[in-house]
Amino acid sequence: MTTSAELIDVIERRSAHNYHPLPVVIREADGAWVTDVEGRRFLDCLSGYSSLNFGHGNPKIIQAAQQQLQNLTLTSRAFYHDQFAAFCGGLGDLTGKDMILPMNTGAEAVETAIKVARKWGYEVKGVEPEQATIIVMEDNFHGRTTTIVSFSTDPDAHDGFGPYTPGFKIVKYGSIEAIREAIDANTVAVLLEPIQGEAGVLVPPDGYLTQVRELCTAEGILMIADEIQSGLGRTGRTFACEHEGVVPDMYVLGKALGGGVVPVSAVAADADVLGVIKPGQHGSTFGGNPLACAVGNAVIEILNTGEYQERAARLGEVLHGRLREMVGDGVVTVRGRGLWAGVDIDPSLATGREVSEALMERGVLAKDTHGSTIRLAPPIVISEEDLLWAVDRLAEAIASFRR
Ligand SMILES: Cc1ncc(COP(=O)(O)O)c(C=O)c1O
Repeated sequence: MTTSAELIDVIERRSAHNYHPLPVVIREADGAWVTDVEGRRFLDCLSGYSSLNFGHGNPKIIQAAQQQLQNLTLTSRAFYHDQFAAFCGGLGDLTGKDMILPMNTGAEAVETAIKVARKWGYEVKGVEPEQATIIVMEDNFHGRTTTIVSFSTDPDAHDGFGPYTPGFKIVKYGSIEAIREAIDANTVAVLLEPIQGEAGVLVPPDGYLTQVRELCTAEGILMIADEIQSGLGRTGRTFACEHEGVVPDMYVLGKALGGGVVPVSAVAADADVLGVIKPGQHGSTFGGNPLACAVGNAVIEILNTGEYQERAARLGEVLHGRLREMVGDGVVTVRGRGLWAGVDIDPSLATGREVSEALMERGVLAKDTHGSTIRLAPPIVISEEDLLWAVDRLAEAIASFRR
């Protein structure tokens, strides 16, 4: 048998070092648990950055994928296929929007939203050609394309990849005044994450999303919510915007839409917005393919029951209640909503990376983000017992750095 160490050795020599993984080689998984090549089990508290909201190997999703693999996997959008109507209708109903534009990865869906907003700006709002600007947030994370990293404020994501795409104004997240000041005649949209995941699960001040909605409506510009990581049950609601009863003009969805099986992303908006895209102006060979749609349809059916949203809300209370008790005990602050938490570790004790490694040794997989923050986002299928066990392991891991 090839060992983890042998596999890691090959991977480190033969793959680009664009990630810094924890030293674990996973072979199989079920629900909230994964097993490595040596047979060691770990509780997954990352969920593929919220792609596995419904658990590893979710039976309904796997069954839909298996059935579709046998029927039809790809047509390209040159033809229609029998899974597409249910996907667009189902996701349209879930989001309350008229239309869906399917893509594959999250970054592609964000790119789609940017293109749609610009085109809408020129054709509907009447912005001068080539002048459209989109207001974006400091510490955003929307993906890795050259356009998206052009407006990233993270030096790792941004620096060294110019020349950069113009047309973005970066403002402070959480400040409605900053958006107000940035708006001018060329502004077509505000693009934000309702909770900033990669930045460390940053929840904006209460009322902020409502204010953004009201301002966008008053100014006649589009509110675009990137719910790729925050959406589809993670925060205890279908969409994180719902916590403030806010409906954006465009939802950008990805990750969990593919059930942890295939990349599925989409933009959802009404016909007066998405209708600006005409044949030949945007697309992707694999976007909206039959396998992706069959998996997406299973995900939509799961979300329509409301079961996972309710479970994330209930378990989120348990998680945050327990994490709050740790504040002052090696933990500086805890943020988040539902089954999603950013835990700031006392930087004088250890880095986030060191705590992630100590957690791994104790059977829990979680990843640091930005210095001393640990992000917890277990699959929503996790049991309450396992969840509390994971938090106990976190307390233990942090305590291990006290001398
Ligand atoms: C909010 C948000 N938008 C976009 C993306 C990019 O998605 P992908 O990695 O599928 O391109 C991510 C990925 O982490 C994300 O969290």
